[in-house]
Amino acid sequence: MTTATAIIDISTLVTNDPSLGEGPLGLLQNAAVVIDGDRIVWVGESSKAPATDNQVDAGGRALLPGFVDSHSHLVFAGDRTAEFNARMSGRPYSAGGIRTTVAATRAASDQDLEENVARYVREARRQGTTTLEIKSGYGLTSQDEARSLEVASAFTDEVTYLGAHVVPPEFADDPAAYVDLVTGPMLDLCAPHARWIDVFCEQGAFDGDQARTILTAGAQRGLTPRVHANQLTQGPGVQLAVELGAASADHCTHLSDADVDALAQGDTVATLLPGAEFSTRSRYPDARRLLDAGVTVALSPDCNPGSSFTSSMSFCVALAVREMGMTPDEAVWAATAGGARALRRTDVGRVAPGARADLTLLDAPSPVHLAYRPGVPLAAAVWHGGTLV
Ligand code: NIG
Ligand code: FE
Repeated sequence: MTTATAIIDISTLVTNDPSLGEGPLGLLQNAAVVIDGDRIVWVGESSKAPATDNQVDAGGRALLPGFVDSHSHLVFAGDRTAEFNARMSGRPYSAGGIRTTVAATRAASDQDLEENVARYVREARRQGTTTLEIKSGYGLTSQDEARSLEVASAFTDEVTYLGAHVVPPEFADDPAAYVDLVTGPMLDLCAPHARWIDVFCEQGAFDGDQARTILTAGAQRGLTPRVHANQLTQGPGVQLAVELGAASADHCTHLSDADVDALAQGDTVATLLPGAEFSTRSRYPDARRLLDAGVTVALSPDCNPGSSFTSSMSFCVALAVREMGMTPDEAVWAATAGGARALRRTDVGRVAPGARADLTLLDAPSPVHLAYRPGVPLAAAVWHGGTLV
């Protein structure tokens, strides 16, 4: 191996591959990882690492797969500090705040939008996130949704069409006409730029029937559904997501027993977004209940200017452990392998030969420190496709 790099003297390596190490995280102690180009080519004991031209000494620190963030709303302009401030003085969160960002996004130039996305992608990468899904949803005209998706496509392959984020003001008197637009001309323009379709199924946004119509239309055009489900109320979103075979039901904060059963029986991942509950001062989703029922759980910061303006996965890991009943190991799995499941990816979220060389070296001896040392920037080095960020 000549161009390869060996990362040696890793105290704890999270592989997420139980065939390579201990437990669900596939933990290896005193480990090494060899990367070549954009792939991982070798994983094993540090003392047995093959000779390579380049070597990085991890110095007894922990290495894990780069975080896989399966839910973000990075294509936006403007800022909603005033709304956050009002909420922290007691005003409740509602879906309607989205319209403030829609107005600012429509008024922004392509360059403004690109620069904004670049800034938050950089911010996420520095903190250890190597895979990022990005949604549209603040354009809400055919042209503005299509350009949002084009902007997102410059940064990721995981692009989601969210024309059904909220009914825009110009359709306030005729939401049915907006659903026709989202499933008709807007879908025509947007489908070529997206892999996924999402709907905000919630009071004040889209009801179950509208969500079904929209997701089904998207699926017919080759887009796989994912759903903003049961964030603010116990609505039909989760059941619909499972019924339609959605890759994930996101938020899952207000769940009935039937919702939990449906998730446990289907293969839809429950993606929990505790930054939203933090920033809207709401009750957190009960991750313990989902895990005990056998549901696959992912974590994501849900970075958006309204309900959760954070790109920090480690913050979500800490919240999930402290507030949602997850063990540190479960939260680390959910932030890496769980996100990969939610995006139906097998090349990320694990450290094994053949996987992408997406890695985060922590300034800590163990991944438990992500929860044990909340708010501390622990990502010491991040490799994205084999390149140091
Ligand atoms: O995931 N729930 C819908 N969408 C975002 C919030 C968007 C906003 O408030 O701007 C979310 O929380
Ligand atoms: Fe969201």
